[in-house]
Amino acid sequence: MEVKGKVVIVTGASSGIGEATAREFGKEGAKVVLASRRVDKLQTLAEEINKMGTEALVVQADLSKLEDIQKLVAETLAKFNRIDILVNNAGFGRLDWLENLDPVKDIQAQIDVNVMGVIQTTRQVLPVMIKQRSGSIINMCSMAGLVATPTYTIYAASKHAVHGFSEALRREVKPWGIDVSLIYPGGVVTEFTQHAGIKRKTNAKTPNFMLLTAEQVAQAVVKLVHKPRRMWIIPWLWGVSVFMNRFFPGLVDNTTINRFTIPEREDELKKM
Ligand SMILES: NC(=O)c1ccc[n+]([C@@H]2O[C@H](COP(=O)([O-])OP(=O)(O)OC[C@H]3O[C@@H](n4cnc5c(N)ncnc54)[C@H](OP(=O)(O)O)[C@@H]3O)[C@@H](O)[C@H]2O)c1
Repeated sequence: MEVKGKVVIVTGASSGIGEATAREFGKEGAKVVLASRRVDKLQTLAEEINKMGTEALVVQADLSKLEDIQKLVAETLAKFNRIDILVNNAGFGRLDWLENLDPVKDIQAQIDVNVMGVIQTTRQVLPVMIKQRSGSIINMCSMAGLVATPTYTIYAASKHAVHGFSEALRREVKPWGIDVSLIYPGGVVTEFTQHAGIKRKTNAKTPNFMLLTAEQVAQAVVKLVHKPRRMWIIPWLWGVSVFMNRFFPGLVDNTTINRFTIPEREDELKKM
């Protein structure tokens, strides 16, 4: 699909990957609908995109609320009368041991945005794309949607759900001319880590050479519109850990437990 002149909804466009993706679509001449809760940030980005000679629409939406998602789709149709591309990007992680996560603010909230937000937004947009007999849906997954690591229980569950949802959907909607692509970035330098509340005793973190910028992920997202893919792991080197996890899960368990879980939980273990 060509991007110029197409109508694209980007959720979570107020920062990080979503912001960079919306900007990238703007550069390619798409009409961009920007959705998230922080409307001031969306307004600033909309002004920038409008200056590129295309149009941007701002819709304040909490993606955990069905009524906001319905409003997002209604306002998009009222302004542009069609929806060609949906980028389900909004999401966040709260990373801690399961027993430390708040049942509502951390657990329920992650599922509401990362899973229900993706499902309900897609559900609202789909009839429009089916009527058009064309569309491109790009779902922001994560390496955590393929390989689950300690402190990522809920986040990994949410991204595994996005993986399963997208796989089934892809096989449902292809006959209507609708493509569903999944992208699995590793670590990306964004506000994500600020919201994640990561506390580490060890030095465990994504090595710098594996870190991506939001712009790199955004460019990959736009490429997926031109050339849809079932799954795209970036950077590709993470594919090695997917392979190891699939074929040597015992080895991955032992390495993760001995190199991460036990050193991180040493003080708690000593108290027992
Ligand atoms: N950073 C990484 O290492 C990484 C790696 C793989 C995948 N991802 C995924 O990439 C996506 C974007 O994350 P990011 O790294 O760009 O983080 P970010 O900079 O924190 O951006 C998150 C975006 O999601 C939006 N959002 C969060 N809760 C929302 C809600 N209830 N309703 C509407 N919008 C909401 C935020 O907007 P408001 O606060 O304005 O609502 C913000 O625009 C997420 O799905 C994340 O899981 C990130």
